Amino acid sequence: MSVQAEATSTTPAVRGETLRVEGLSGGFRSAEGGFTEILKSVSFSIETGTITAVVGETGSGKSMTALAVIGLLPKGFHRTAGAVHFEGHDLLTLAPAQLRALRGDRIGMVFQDARAR
Ligand SMILES: Nc1ncnc2c1ncn2[C@@H]1O[C@H](COP(=O)(O)OP(=O)(O)OP(=O)(O)O)[C@@H](O)[C@H]1O
Ligand SMILES: [Mg+2]
Repeated sequence: MSVQAEATSTTPAVRGETLRVEGLSGGFRSAEGGFTEILKSVSFSIETGTITAVVGETGSGKSMTALAVIGLLPKGFHRTAGAVHFEGHDLLTLAPAQLRALRGDRIGMVFQDARAR
């Protein structure tokens, strides 16, 4: 008699890419007509079922990257280039109603300070 063991898991195998950010660039336009570039061709992708950490010094643009991905950029910020693909959607060209439907349901942001970002 033989016994066969099989690895089992309650979590189904997930494969693929959840988020892909490609060449995201942008910055703030000043009242005087100047432009300060904050995001300089930011590119990364996140595989489904994995955790990705973005590390950088304060003011380096981590929050602006996350806000640009979900379309919640502050007034004055202008995106100059790039694309954001999330679960088959092109987030930067999605209709506002479709983006709202994804936000909170499929994608969201936990702010570092609940009172201010
Ligand atoms: N409303 C704004 N007007 C002009 N510049 C801004 C504005 N908001 C942020 N910035 C600038 O954008 C840059 C990126 O800021 P961001 O908040 O993305 O940094 P961060 O990497 O998240 O920093 P921290 O680690 O402190 O959270 C900073 O230089 C900041 O001064
Ligand atoms: Mg931040």
